[in-house]
Amino acid sequence: MSQNLTIVEHPLVQHKLTLMRDKTCSTSDFRRLLREISQFLAYEITRELPMTTRSIDTPLCPMDAPVLAGKKLALVSILRAGNGLLDGILELVPGARVGFVGLYRDEETLKPVEYYNKLPKGLEDRLTIVVDPMLATGNSSAAAIDMVKAAGATNIRFLCLLAAPEGVARMSEAHPDVPVVTAALDERLNEKGYILPGLGDAGDRMFGTK
Ligand code: URA
Repeated sequence: MSQNLTIVEHPLVQHKLTLMRDKTCSTSDFRRLLREISQFLAYEITRELPMTTRSIDTPLCPMDAPVLAGKKLALVSILRAGNGLLDGILELVPGARVGFVGLYRDEETLKPVEYYNKLPKGLEDRLTIVVDPMLATGNSSAAAIDMVKAAGATNIRFLCLLAAPEGVARMSEAHPDVPVVTAALDERLNEKGYILPGLGDAGDRMFGTK
């Protein structure tokens, strides 16, 4: 569909996602599964991080061993559901800087309006991964990426659990330079902007607010 879209079809990811979609999945299981899947998605999205070598001594001999080159990553969570993806990724890249953006939808214009913006400094030197479980209309994701670009980020990726074709199209139109990694591309949005078949409201399901 888009050369900027990667779907992680690993059997464990697909199995865990099915458990999450099931409406009988408990809040605690939903959170745990989201955290587990976030690590597979992060594995995929960091696959081409630049490498260098460092001289070390093993117990047997010296070696030039591979290490990550340059500054560490920055993760940016779109509040509030993005927070469900953060902890798992931070376990893999504990040195990452973390930022948060908050957006709500203006009921008249239907456009996203910023209510919170706390981003790390130095984004120009870091791979910046923007995270939100659901890429639905793509409006808030595109606006969040506007915000990280305004803060200096140039090397940006978007990580989500589920994507709708409408959201992928919106992202590739607004930010063709931003690759998207997801666990599944679903069928479409319903009239309320929910992804079908989807999993419902990701924030409500992970925080038990419904
Ligand atoms: N946000 C959600 O939490 N779920 C959807 O299906 C779409 C947007």
